[in-house]
Amino acid sequence: MTRRPRIAVIGSANVDLTTFSDRFPRAGETIFGQHFDLGWGGKGANQAVAARLCGADVSMIARVGDDLFGPATIANFNAQGIDASHVHVVPGVSSGVAPIFVESNGQNRIIVVKGANDRLRPADVDAAAPMLAVADCIVLQFEIPLDTVFHAVRFARRHGIRCIVNPAPAQAFELRELEGVDYFVPNETEAEAISGMPVRTIEDATACAVHMVSQGLTRVIITLGANGALLATADGATHIPPFPVDARDTTGAGDAFVGSFAVYLGEGLSEPEAIARANLYAALSTTGIGSQKSFVTRQRADEEWTARAAPPHA
Ligand code: RIB
Repeated sequence: MTRRPRIAVIGSANVDLTTFSDRFPRAGETIFGQHFDLGWGGKGANQAVAARLCGADVSMIARVGDDLFGPATIANFNAQGIDASHVHVVPGVSSGVAPIFVESNGQNRIIVVKGANDRLRPADVDAAAPMLAVADCIVLQFEIPLDTVFHAVRFARRHGIRCIVNPAPAQAFELRELEGVDYFVPNETEAEAISGMPVRTIEDATACAVHMVSQGLTRVIITLGANGALLATADGATHIPPFPVDARDTTGAGDAFVGSFAVYLGEGLSEPEAIARANLYAALSTTGIGSQKSFVTRQRADEEWTARAAPPHA
């Protein structure tokens, strides 16, 4: 029987307010949108939900506001079967929110207002230590204070726990803070911002990921949207091809990749297969709208894998 991984996500929870329109308005212009969607989001929460849907036991460490969204966010974690005993309401602070704009080609633009996410402190990681210490994998992103992220990285290193860092959204930081991280997983935009190198082609991504490894990161995966993903290690770089889909909304696809990858890896799949399956899981999420509500069940992901994973993926 496949092992059920225990995954702890330390990160953000937002409410996504998504507007769909044919194009983005210019400065000073008002246009009509076609559709609006209100849903659960936040990179951390999305990754936790993806991991849960893929079959892991998942714990979330987060902070929410004392507005209408805060308790409802906790209720959403509970409804998903995610342990939310370390998700607390911060008095006098709003919940994280994300106004999102999606164009007809599925491409998105996001503004995040961090709210209570900014109150998740290193002491909160320490308070969750007994739960974190038994996790197989700790998953982190950059929507919470970076000193909390780095504190959690050090915790994972001390306890020998696999650690995945998704540097989203990109911010300036010292690479040495991520010493010992097992997987560093930016998308093209984040990889460009962090490395200062262009990432417009697979060749660019290869050069960028190899450079990041040379700077001290152990394993780098650059997610490339419709072009799949690029893995670089000290042994070289490998491009893992995509699965074609008709994308309607790419919001949360990177989170679907990270959350599902953590599970596939935790189940003991090989690195190339775990990345290929995460590519597929992320691609499937772009066929629906919204973040968490577009994530598919493990059963659906497995069925699609069986139907599509002929060579070169098999
Ligand atoms: O990665 C997508 C997520 O980014 C959205 O759910 C939004 O909340 C922002 O955090």
